[in-house]
Amino acid sequence: MSLPIAVLISGGGSNLQSIIEKMEDNILDVDIRMVLSNKADAYGLKRAEAYGIPTSVLNHKDFGSREEFDAEMVRVLKEAGVEAVVMAGFMRIITPVFLNAFPGKIINIHPAILPSFPGVDGQSEAAEYGVQLAGCTVHFVNEKMDNGAVIIQAAVPAYPGEKEDDLRERILKQEHRILPQAIQWLAKERLTIENRFVKLAEADVAAAERDVFSLVNPPLEKGF
Ligand code: GRF
Repeated sequence: MSLPIAVLISGGGSNLQSIIEKMEDNILDVDIRMVLSNKADAYGLKRAEAYGIPTSVLNHKDFGSREEFDAEMVRVLKEAGVEAVVMAGFMRIITPVFLNAFPGKIINIHPAILPSFPGVDGQSEAAEYGVQLAGCTVHFVNEKMDNGAVIIQAAVPAYPGEKEDDLRERILKQEHRILPQAIQWLAKERLTIENRFVKLAEADVAAAERDVFSLVNPPLEKGF
């Protein structure tokens, strides 16, 4: 059985695309019941439509409070039969109204190695800081921004003085690997949280061999 999910976006949707591609490769057992955007012009909506995936636009500005916006999102997603939620470039903070509707089933991709550089501009802050390693994180979502238990992280090198866009691209490439992998682990119920530590059942330790230049931990499995 495929896990019925929603993907929440606000922009280009390249992470959404990476999820769809792994579904097409038959290594990701999910069914995208809804792609929901808070921006009507998000290009990711077009990507979804190209695959016949249902879309929905809810403009947060049409709602009196964050809670009202979240309640409407919950209504739309529940109606579509959604059981888990992937935030993939969704630029809104969610409230307990949304969190409590999908307990333990909401994950987010963040373009920095948390807890470094939380917030909306992780990549450029890392570039400005002068880090030697940057990267990305998939984590469970809790009530604080970019704070939930970490599922998987990937590191990439950062080079002094390089264009911020180059670093952004390098990070994004890894986002497209670790997000579908994390979703598959969620779909297969292989993730458990104990005191902020996410444990992966049946981790493929031998797969570590494949990741020499990108430090990915836990290691990605075949096809990701
Ligand atoms: C990604 O870098 C994601 O981590 C961040 O926003 C960007 C979204 O990219 N939160 P896309 O819309 O998936 O192309």
